[in-house]
Amino acid sequence: MPRPLQATVDMGALASNHALARRLAPRAKVLATIKANAYGHGMRRVERGLHDADGFAVCEIDQAAALRARARSARRDCQVLLLEGFFSTRDLLVCSLEGISAVVHDIWQVEMLERTRLESPIDVFVKMNTGMNRLGFAPASFGAAVERLRSLSAVRSITLMTHFASADEDEGVAAQLAVFDAHVAPFGGLRRSLANSAALLRYPQTHADCVRPGIMLYGVSPFAGQPAAALGLRPAMALESELIAVQSIEAGQRVGYAGAFRADVPMRVGIVACGYADGYPRHAPTGTPVLVDGRRSRTLGRVSMDMLAVDLADMPEAGIGTPVVLWGGALPVEEVAAAAGTIAYELLCALAPRVPVREAFPDTPANPPAVAT
Ligand SMILES: Cc1ncc(COP(=O)(O)O)c(C=O)c1O
Repeated sequence: MPRPLQATVDMGALASNHALARRLAPRAKVLATIKANAYGHGMRRVERGLHDADGFAVCEIDQAAALRARARSARRDCQVLLLEGFFSTRDLLVCSLEGISAVVHDIWQVEMLERTRLESPIDVFVKMNTGMNRLGFAPASFGAAVERLRSLSAVRSITLMTHFASADEDEGVAAQLAVFDAHVAPFGGLRRSLANSAALLRYPQTHADCVRPGIMLYGVSPFAGQPAAALGLRPAMALESELIAVQSIEAGQRVGYAGAFRADVPMRVGIVACGYADGYPRHAPTGTPVLVDGRRSRTLGRVSMDMLAVDLADMPEAGIGTPVVLWGGALPVEEVAAAAGTIAYELLCALAPRVPVREAFPDTPANPPAVAT
């Protein structure tokens, strides 16, 4: 018997969420963001699941090259964008050889393009820092960088790009969008790419020519107050295990490392095969929600490396082998993340390589109706 912990990726949900992105931004190319092992879902798996995607966005050159090679052998035209661009001349040569598009966010990359002889010119996304202060040219120097790139035989096409810091917050996109619009005005003929999931879902004015959804493809809401289902999204990942032991404890007895949970009354405690070495957040406090046999319960005490404890106080029928959902289905990963003081992105990305992943191909309809936000 294998250890009873398993993740499931619902391939129908991936396709459905991708179809929703397409429907909401019908005139834009959709570059599916599959960096960080497709947010923990498995890059190859998601690539297969989204075989009709216009393209993919990743961070590593080797992954980008492999994506392009597979697209070529499948005779598919599929754009692959390096979100942090190239880091070296070697990377740049690979971009040229493999037909990989690259973000250009700093002047040293422009200089590298100027001095490197390429077999074939590359497609670049020139990034403007409109307020996030992470990557990108300052608005005042953006135009000059675009002009320099425009004059280069090493550059085949230019897309003007920015990234929003607060599209998922009340602050929205207005201030960054205004900066972007003001500084791209002289470049009317060039393509534009702005939207992440939150902007795609909430701000049609950001769709432009190319959107870059990530988290929504995995069925997770980017908005704290708005559940994924209300957006028409279907969760793609479930993490499930079983009870592997049950303890009956007396009032005053404690559970787990440091005895961080102390029982007030006699109670039954279930031990679940899932711990922080599987990707479950160690900092999830007592009270983090779980489903035991489909019913809501809570974690107790500290999460250990391979196990965690759950409250069986109202579940006299629960015993060894009873199924436990850590997240997925009726227990949105967003809710577990909030209880653990983090975001769903982090939980999904942290799924450990030792957790076996099963693919589900449900015969349920792939396209629930989109809900306006
Ligand atoms: C530049 C860029 N575009 C798009 C995305 C996708 O964002 P999200 O997962 O919020 O849709 C990311 C993710 O961090 C990003 O860094």
